[in-house]
Amino acid sequence: MKIPILENKRVVLGVTGSIAAYKAADLASKLTQVGAEVHVIMTADAKHFVAPLTFEAVTGNPVFDDLWQSSSGTMPTHIAHIGLAESADLILIAPATANTIAKIAHGLAHDLLSVTVLAARCPVVVAPAMDGGMYENPATQANLRILRERGITIIEPEWGRFASGLEGRGRLPETLTLIGEVRRILGRNGVLAGRQVVVTAGGTIEDLDPVRYITNRSSGKQGFAVAQAALDAGASLTLITTVKSLPEPVGAEIMYVRSAEEMLGAVLKQADCDVLIMAAAVADFRPAAVASHKIKKQDAGLTITLEKNPDILFTVGQQRLQTKLPRILIGFAAETDDLIANAKAKLDKKNADMIVANDVSVPGAGFEGDTNVVTLITADAPPQTLEKMSKTEVAAAIIQWAAGKLTASAES
Ligand code: CTP
Repeated sequence: MKIPILENKRVVLGVTGSIAAYKAADLASKLTQVGAEVHVIMTADAKHFVAPLTFEAVTGNPVFDDLWQSSSGTMPTHIAHIGLAESADLILIAPATANTIAKIAHGLAHDLLSVTVLAARCPVVVAPAMDGGMYENPATQANLRILRERGITIIEPEWGRFASGLEGRGRLPETLTLIGEVRRILGRNGVLAGRQVVVTAGGTIEDLDPVRYITNRSSGKQGFAVAQAALDAGASLTLITTVKSLPEPVGAEIMYVRSAEEMLGAVLKQADCDVLIMAAAVADFRPAAVASHKIKKQDAGLTITLEKNPDILFTVGQQRLQTKLPRILIGFAAETDDLIANAKAKLDKKNADMIVANDVSVPGAGFEGDTNVVTLITADAPPQTLEKMSKTEVAAAIIQWAAGKLTASAES
């Protein structure tokens, strides 16, 4: 599945001689799969751990490992280090050894990777991976400080077990985390840079007793995709969610909530933002009483009385009539009948700028899957039905619309 912020971006991936070099093969593969054009530079030491052929196979591009080799036809010049440095949208060194970090910090340039970094004008991201003692060493820490001061982004290594059997800080983070950091850097000057965006995601959980609850089939995937799309566009992003099973988008501030009441409290705290997108499937009802002990089996069966939950989108929509915040308010509508008419009614009633309507009974739309079929309903344009697409692409379309609307309302 392609990721718009990475599609056709040229990423130079520097791989150095750490045992974590084997993980860089997965990173190169995933970056390629989501649409990036990946060019790998290996140091001589990296080749003790992984063969260049591995990277060639997963990226479809030749590997560079020699300062004296020429670049390939797609580079702006035949001089490899200049061609790579000038054409890169981003240089990512993962894993980065203490040796490579020291070289870059001090401007040494006697292998292809260090020369390329010296020549680069694009963002550089460094993901250290080494033994805990080497990472904590004042020399390494001083070198990392130098890199940070020069605007290079350092991805903190994680705590865990090393190949040596010892434990400490120095492990290369997971591929998803590394890609998340790359997205954050590539998106930082995007259309929502400097904007505060709040997204809700997932079904709320309404407790009945200490072991039972009522919820719905929402997976949170569409809301998480919207949150990630906002981050990709450079927004400061708060994600208010009930879902703990999906990876946290890198760079998001996350507020975990459980019930509709809790979600309402969190949303009201964050409502003076630029854009609020209510992708959560808020339960309309909750048990009128929450038993403090497990409800025991009863021969006569059990009748549960439900009472109404607050309507969060409606509440924010009313508050907004006075405060004018959030500047843009977007809701979703999950329907099984009369999609357009029902969604239009929600647009008016909840004082929203857009309702993303989906007929959850259509194949390829709705809760658990990775695709969606939505119609965008706004006050000032006819309903726009998007073809079946990934939730990532739906999210990008919503964020693009919100960014356009923000610009238009600032100009009017
Ligand atoms: N919503 C909300 N609070 C609720 C119910 C819904 O904030 N108690 C929000 C949802 O997050 C969504 C929009 O309102 O953005 C529409 O939700 P939906 O469940 O489709 O509609 P309802 O308003 O609940 O109406 P109905 O269930 O009758 O279709």
